[in-house]
Amino acid sequence: MPGQKAAEQDRPQRIILITGCSSGIGAAAARTLRGRDWRVFATARRAEDVERLRAAGFESLLLDYEDAASIEEAAAAVLERTGGRLDALFNNGAYAIPGALEDMPTAALRQLFEANFLGWHTLTRAVLPAMRRQGAGRIVQCSSILGFIGMPYRGAYNASKFALEGYSDTLRLELGGSGIHVSLIEPGPIATRFTENALENFLRIIGQDGIAASVHREAYEKRVARMQAGEKSLFKLPARAVVKQVVHAVEAPRPKARYWITVPTVAMAVAKRLLPTRALDRVLTRAARSEE
Ligand SMILES: NC(=O)c1ccc[n+]([C@@H]2O[C@H](COP(=O)([O-])OP(=O)(O)OC[C@H]3O[C@@H](n4cnc5c(N)ncnc54)[C@H](OP(=O)(O)O)[C@@H]3O)[C@@H](O)[C@H]2O)c1
Repeated sequence: MPGQKAAEQDRPQRIILITGCSSGIGAAAARTLRGRDWRVFATARRAEDVERLRAAGFESLLLDYEDAASIEEAAAAVLERTGGRLDALFNNGAYAIPGALEDMPTAALRQLFEANFLGWHTLTRAVLPAMRRQGAGRIVQCSSILGFIGMPYRGAYNASKFALEGYSDTLRLELGGSGIHVSLIEPGPIATRFTENALENFLRIIGQDGIAASVHREAYEKRVARMQAGEKSLFKLPARAVVKQVVHAVEAPRPKARYWITVPTVAMAVAKRLLPTRALDRVLTRAARSEE
């Protein structure tokens, strides 16, 4: 319709801030949204990735969730460049440290919470006043199937994503009627650098000595071999499957509170609603054993 087209041409370009754009879902989301005529601020936590993103034509800034000053500076720089406008925030950057909870150093867990949870809060708070002023905005939180299902050796990551789920449910209620929508993206296995990064973290933080001394040694050795082989799964989807739902969350007039992505996420979300905890534990224990 010509009228609709004219209205779209008149609309100011929509603006999004995305974290963790060095690879995987963040990088794919930045490319796709730019292709859909969004003005994309693609952030990364390392200077070399910021340079690479700039060379690829993005407005890119340094943003490390473990460094509160970098979060505040990046948010302020974006708002300054846009005259105080921001239509959407995609909190995405995160990592896992595999390992049994009894082997997980508290300092590593604390640091992971900075990256996967507390930094997200700092950034969300930094952009909310602009969204409040606009009376509109989208906050999209990259959670996981592991945001509502516990799995052995995923405890640190599980805890951070469960925290994010509770946080986002509360935020959605608190922002009800404000025009600002909060959506949780809940992918299962996605083909990115995630497993590679997780393996690196495991070997650095639990370490060969920790593996050798652990009561979980045998399971660890099998898990390392599985991660080295790329954690193959029949159900693994490419990053674009996630990006498709991110696009819905930022563009649809009625974004969903939750986006289930991949067969395991749908199956587990249904199982969690139907099964008593003990029965669900049996299913998850069997799933974990099948991975060894
Ligand atoms: N892949 C999966 O199977 C899967 C499934 C469910 C949910 N997710 C979620 O999807 C999101 C993106 O992960 P991905 O699969 O795209 O993995 P990825 O390829 O490993 O990308 C993760 C991104 O997060 C960044 N990051 C890590 N620590 C950060 C920090 N302290 N501050 C800012 N950014 C940080 C990484 O930067 P560096 O390159 O500097 O490390 C990278 O850009 C995460 O929230 C993850 O939990 C992934």
